Amino acid sequence: MKRTFLIAGNWKMNAGPSEASKIATELVAAWEGKSFQAEALICPPFVSIPAVAAAFGNSAFKTGAQNVHTEDNGAFTGEVSTDMLKETGCEYVIVGHSERREYFHESSDLVAEKAKKVINDGLKAIVCVGEVLSERKAGTYKEVVKEQMNAVLNTLSGDVSDQFVVAYEPVWAIGTGETATPEQAQDMHQYIRTLLNEHFGSEVAEKIRILYGGSMKPDNAADLLSRPDVDGGLIGGASLKADSFSEILSAAESI
Ligand code: 13P
Repeated sequence: MKRTFLIAGNWKMNAGPSEASKIATELVAAWEGKSFQAEALICPPFVSIPAVAAAFGNSAFKTGAQNVHTEDNGAFTGEVSTDMLKETGCEYVIVGHSERREYFHESSDLVAEKAKKVINDGLKAIVCVGEVLSERKAGTYKEVVKEQMNAVLNTLSGDVSDQFVVAYEPVWAIGTGETATPEQAQDMHQYIRTLLNEHFGSEVAEKIRILYGGSMKPDNAADLLSRPDVDGGLIGGASLKADSFSEILSAAESI
């Protein structure tokens, strides 16, 4: 069964409102009069979400956020809640990106709490997992991903397939130009599918999308996306230009 692709851009700390609006407008223009089967999503910085949502208008492009807090409101300086994100038109939230785990010390338990909050509040969580280079080299990469996955799975039950997306992002492939080979990606995605199976049973596990992230580009997207357990991409650098993001979306459409 081929799942509906999710082609998601993570703009990280790039593109303030005016630049964001420009890229989003170019994306809509590039697909004017054409439709696509995949879901296409852009996750800009918080302050640029309204500009991107406005530029997308009622096109098929969706907006999401890169992070969220676990509380609804209160004295949490610098944080943003699920309700605030919903109000700006977000449908998805990335949680547990490796940059948040590394630079902001987010533990697997906190990531799990955020994922649960996002899902309970009716948004869709894109939960990132992935090993660093030393873990890949030491051969412990599956254990690392299992620990990250289990923390999240322990907070989820029932059919969450519409609201729960996993993104496998090997840290050594992020922003480095080095991509996991399609075989390495499929191998880990298949392993993640096994973990989903054990937790949810096959009916739900088969519907959950597993994205690949880490130097996905127009020239390697089709090869990665054609693997049976690669259900989309979480794209950093190449999502910051309307042309390259569109080419990756086209690659998905060609499969
Ligand atoms: P790059 O595509 O720039 O490697 O970034 C991947 C990523 O971290 C997406 O979340």
